[in-house]
Amino acid sequence: MDVKAYLETCRTRVDGWLDRWMPPVDRFPQLLFEAMRYSLFAGGKRMRPALTLAACETLGGEPEAAVPFAAALEMVHTYSLIHDDLPAMDDDDLRRGRPTNHKVFGEGMAVLAGDGLLTDAFSALTDPEVLRVHPAERVVRAVAELARAAGTAGMVGGQALDLVSEGRVPDLPTLEFLHTHKTGALIRAAVVLGALAAGAGEEDLGRLGRFAERVGLAFQIADDILDVEGDPEALGKPVGSDEGRAKATYPALLGLSESRRLMQAIVAEAMDLLTPYGGRAAALRALARFVVERRH
Ligand code: IPE
Ligand code: IPE
Ligand code: MG
Ligand code: MG
Ligand code: MG
Repeated sequence: MDVKAYLETCRTRVDGWLDRWMPPVDRFPQLLFEAMRYSLFAGGKRMRPALTLAACETLGGEPEAAVPFAAALEMVHTYSLIHDDLPAMDDDDLRRGRPTNHKVFGEGMAVLAGDGLLTDAFSALTDPEVLRVHPAERVVRAVAELARAAGTAGMVGGQALDLVSEGRVPDLPTLEFLHTHKTGALIRAAVVLGALAAGAGEEDLGRLGRFAERVGLAFQIADDILDVEGDPEALGKPVGSDEGRAKATYPALLGLSESRRLMQAIVAEAMDLLTPYGGRAAALRALARFVVERRH
């Protein structure tokens, strides 16, 4: 499986849907829509949408049915990046290879562009087009999963812990909590939404959810490692940002080689959960491998 080609195919599908759904840049007030589109179409990897489509495929679903779910999730993810980069949070100047949103549009507009993407994601998820394809009950479940993953029980909770952990290295269980919340929760939701789009039952939802929890934790450990030894050109964001702000990271607690070992062990656990799906999980396996091997 060529993971690069798979990510590109997912990008084309999801970006097409987003571009049709998102208000155009000439909609009044223009600057807001310009700011939202600026970050959304800046060239992220689209790994979460790819996980959504791959989870749907794994359960024999039609990937097209998962596209609006993947798009809504990417909107929430992009909002989290815009806010994460603000001076009041990580204070970073580069994201997805471009100046960060607040550098271009100002802090107030960056806050609002994030708010807009978050709130509109739920409008996208409940769009009449989605309700023509999926039963209302399934859409409600998808809304609940995304809201939980994005909110205080997920990403926002993790980001709060990230902020209060600056300047001290927590113990391993606290660090795992931090990473599974700030990053793992949305990655889990990406997979769960894909499974829901395929009409999954509780057993598959549980199994794929556990797979994604592991992948999400490994993804953030890889992000921590890349912040130490990555190439800013390839990453499209600065390196050394974590050390600069004394962030709670795996390399800070365990060192680079132990972090790498742990990340690989976590992905191996995730892979085991895919055994019952055989060849149909090829794309999910390739994406899980990409998480540990990626250079960006
Ligand atoms: C960056 O996520 C933020 C984290 C949760 C580590 P990605 O590395 O997926 O960023 P994009 O979407 O490719 O820009
Ligand atoms: C980000 O973690 C998690 C989010 C919820 C955005 P980081 O702060 O490490 O992400 P990057 O390195 O800025 O992309
Ligand atoms: Mg951060
Ligand atoms: Mg950051
Ligand atoms: Mg980081």
